[in-house]
Amino acid sequence: MSTQTAQLLDGKALAQRMQAELAEQIQTIQGQKGRAPGLAVLMVGDNPASAAYVRNKERACERVGIASFGKHYSADVSQAELEADIEALNQDDRVDGILVQLPLPDHLDSVALLNKIHPDKDADGLHPVNLGRLVRGEAGLRSCTPAGVMRILQDYQIDSKGKHAVVIGRSILVGKPQALLLLEADATVTIAHSKTANLNEITRSADILIAAIGRPDFIKADMVKPGATVIDVGINRIIDYEGKSRLVGDVDFEAVRAIAAYLTPVPGGVGPMTVTMLLQNTFQSYQAF
Ligand SMILES: NC(=O)c1ccc[n+]([C@@H]2O[C@H](COP(=O)([O-])OP(=O)(O)OC[C@H]3O[C@@H](n4cnc5c(N)ncnc54)[C@H](OP(=O)(O)O)[C@@H]3O)[C@@H](O)[C@H]2O)c1
Repeated sequence: MSTQTAQLLDGKALAQRMQAELAEQIQTIQGQKGRAPGLAVLMVGDNPASAAYVRNKERACERVGIASFGKHYSADVSQAELEADIEALNQDDRVDGILVQLPLPDHLDSVALLNKIHPDKDADGLHPVNLGRLVRGEAGLRSCTPAGVMRILQDYQIDSKGKHAVVIGRSILVGKPQALLLLEADATVTIAHSKTANLNEITRSADILIAAIGRPDFIKADMVKPGATVIDVGINRIIDYEGKSRLVGDVDFEAVRAIAAYLTPVPGGVGPMTVTMLLQNTFQSYQAF
């Protein structure tokens, strides 16, 4: 068995560095602007995972000097009330970014809500206008998690040009925008999903393998090409053999670590970069107006 282990891609350290730089930039610019940047995170109900994500985002805002305009609604809030509040935030000059924390209760139409957000305040980069800009290769607000993955690759000087990148997952949140960003970076891209035939064969040909599936330890060592870069987007809460609850990714970390050249840990890989790109998007909108 090989004793070589992959270099870990430290998203947490990169996120801290980027947030420190952002805090400095905000400090410098806000005097001229006469106000701090502002982000509104709208959360509905009391899903504990969503509440933790929202807290995390608001703490990150505070660290870098972004003002929070978030609102927490009871689970039975109406579509009309949320749409009216989004409209008010669209008009509010103190607010540069708006995001609706997903998932939402079943009675709400999340797509209609996302579409209500003004494209220039679409901090999550999920509005059809921003997704359209991504497809066209035009400047715009990019979806945070895939943009965070690209930033990690860039920071570690892992060039996508001419490489075969395989993205497993085709969600609008991660998989599809990820594939488009890799294409923009001149990779040759394959998108795989639950109906893909011969998945192992495809993943074994990947120079860059991105797992955005939502299944613990799905990517085994025999699915990875020796020397590949493996990015684990998955966040799965499991109960381990000691009965303890913990977070794991989509990649069988220890096994793949012995095969890959680069690997993101979970936690501490892509997750912190998602939050950082959200702050970056808010700052980008702030600078633009
Ligand atoms: N690190 C972060 O900041 C961050 C951010 C967002 C999401 N996440 C995590 O990333 C994971 C994916 O999120 P998501 O929102 O994209 O999830 P999603 O909407 O559930 O999409 C999962 C994708 O995985 C595919 N898939 C499921 N089982 C498969 C299988 N056996 N073989 C091949 N493909 C399979 C699905 O294929 P079909 O389309 O055919 O169903 C789907 O396209 C989750 O663990 C989520 O928690 C992390």
